[in-house]
Amino acid sequence: MSNTTVPVSDSSAEVAGAEIMIDQVVKRYPGQAKPAVEGITLQIPAGKIVMLVGPSGCGKTTTLKMINRLIEPSEGRIVLGGEDVTNMNGDELRRRIGYVIQAGGLFPHMTVATNIGMVPKMLGWDKQRIADRVDELLDLISLDPAVYRDRYPKELSGGQQQRVGVARALAANPPVLLMDEPFGAVDPITRQRLQDELIHIQSEVKKTIVFVTHDFDEAVKLGDWIVVFSEGAEIVQYDTPERILAEPASEFVESFIGSGAGLKQLTLARVDDVELHDCVRARPGDNAKDTLRLVEEARHEHVVVVDDRDRPRQWLTRRQLSRINVIEEHTDPKLPIVGNRATLNDALDTMLVSSAGAALVTGNRDKLLGVIDVETVMTAITAAREAAANASDEDSPIGINTGSIATVDEPAGQSGNETGSAEELR
Ligand SMILES: Nc1ncnc2c1ncn2[C@@H]1O[C@H](COP(=O)(O)OP(=O)(O)OP(=O)(O)O)[C@@H](O)[C@H]1O
Ligand SMILES: [Mg+2]
Repeated sequence: MSNTTVPVSDSSAEVAGAEIMIDQVVKRYPGQAKPAVEGITLQIPAGKIVMLVGPSGCGKTTTLKMINRLIEPSEGRIVLGGEDVTNMNGDELRRRIGYVIQAGGLFPHMTVATNIGMVPKMLGWDKQRIADRVDELLDLISLDPAVYRDRYPKELSGGQQQRVGVARALAANPPVLLMDEPFGAVDPITRQRLQDELIHIQSEVKKTIVFVTHDFDEAVKLGDWIVVFSEGAEIVQYDTPERILAEPASEFVESFIGSGAGLKQLTLARVDDVELHDCVRARPGDNAKDTLRLVEEARHEHVVVVDDRDRPRQWLTRRQLSRINVIEEHTDPKLPIVGNRATLNDALDTMLVSSAGAALVTGNRDKLLGVIDVETVMTAITAAREAAANASDEDSPIGINTGSIATVDEPAGQSGNETGSAEELR
């Protein structure tokens, strides 16, 4: 790898993202009676994922696209990392901001590598540096560079296209990522994997991410903060997922949460938050009898076979071990695996279909970390509920509606801002 390559990961304490301040912004589309965004001041903290949710047409996409000025605000300022970017050259601004849309928005006539390397190329990186960066990012999104770099988008699955879209957005290492319903077009299982992967990636890159979704469960799973909008980008609640579930600000928010708020709490705790069980590991080619002895000594029932990069390949019982001489090179396609950033809800799903009643947990680059079982999950849920109830709201970012007070001329009684305003002004 060339030493000029921008690193994918920063040291774990470091935040690579920049704060975004949407400052008293209004958007009026020509010919529309009401502004699409009636006036909003929203602080997006550096290095956090902020989810925008709300009914169709409430102004989520408009708000998002005003950040990179694909849509120009009618009023107000956009401040990025302390710099007012409201009037800077839009193309230059967009090179600093990664943008991901549904189905990845890849150019069909370009290879994966060319798609990912587009912004670095515009920024004048040399060929080798771009090639290194492409491979590094393909690795990050778990696509083998040798297999995928020269493919065209139509030769990828929907989920793979979406991951390449994320890689492309990250290519020039921008401090900010904007994502507009990126996982809306894939099936539920792929969506869950993409969500887990985004969480993984974010744990490495720590960008500031603004993410629009229709799916409240997705908002709860991915968000550090959630903004619930009603029409005109009116902020009904801006809070942590925990507090939105525990204390919805209004019936409108409640209706958005839908049924099963209790179950959704399960999606708030992550595998990372619980203590995993150890496991005995072996490698293909190891002697089965020796391995069985190790399993017995550890008083375990299973051994996990990992490859040379510590990725789980098989999960063998004592009985299976006793029937073979040498552990074979084989990958069990049905291994129950969850990422360490997956929610306990996802972990539970995986465990319930596994014959072991447990799941293997993997971390960065699919390395094996340990084993999780149902009992661990139950203990953790109780603890997580108690923690949410005791949480304080001192660190809340700013989120208020400004336009309906000062900038928008509306007929009396149409401000529609009764439910949220008292809550918002904290
Ligand atoms: N180019 C445009 N010209 C006129 N009106 C527009 C334009 N784009 C969006 N709007 C209107 O602005 C409002 C907000 O649209 P926006 O796309 O931001 O909604 P959204 O919350 O992203 O909705 P969805 O969930 O359906 O994607 C809608 O009423 C929409 O009809
Ligand atoms: Mg939209």
